[in-house]
Amino acid sequence: KGDPRLQAISQAIRVVPHFPKPGIMFQDITTLLLDHKAFKDTVDIFVDRYRDMGISVVAGVEARGFMFGPSIALAIGAKFVPLRKPRKLPGEVISEAYVLEYGTDCLEMHVGAVQTGERALVIDDLVATGGTLSAAIRLLGAEVIECACVIGLPEVKGQCRLNGKPLYILVEPR
Ligand code: PRP
Repeated sequence: KGDPRLQAISQAIRVVPHFPKPGIMFQDITTLLLDHKAFKDTVDIFVDRYRDMGISVVAGVEARGFMFGPSIALAIGAKFVPLRKPRKLPGEVISEAYVLEYGTDCLEMHVGAVQTGERALVIDDLVATGGTLSAAIRLLGAEVIECACVIGLPEVKGQCRLNGKPLYILVEPR
């Protein structure tokens, strides 16, 4: 992991203390999106990793997986499938609930967006507990080849698997 681009990517992510509530060190990737070189390097690292893996589906997790997923999908010749919060998709959906600190949330995917046997990459900006990505893996089933995130807490970065699927992370929070 000696890629010199990773340091600049990490530095481009703004840390906002006590957002959205006291004690949380919010990892703000909007500043990464403002930095053309760091943003392009981020996408390029994923594209280089996934271009020859036979991936035909990039599934992005709402909302910040939508900011990285489509660029990767276009570059590797895959389709993009949004995994959305409840009641946003107009068609028939399948749903997977996941546990939050308080209560539960849910991800939904359109039925028919992914065919059995397709090879999928799941992308999000950040993995913390892994609950969100686990729900994404359950939605996509055997089709998931790997999950990828820009930022991962050291705990999950170390484990590098989630629900039996490989997890690829670029940087740790600062
Ligand atoms: C954040 C982040 C991931 C998720 C990671 O999304 O973008 O999707 O939390 O947390 P976990 O690993 O503990 O599940 P958030 O719930 O803030 O939703 P948003 O992107 O729609 O604001």
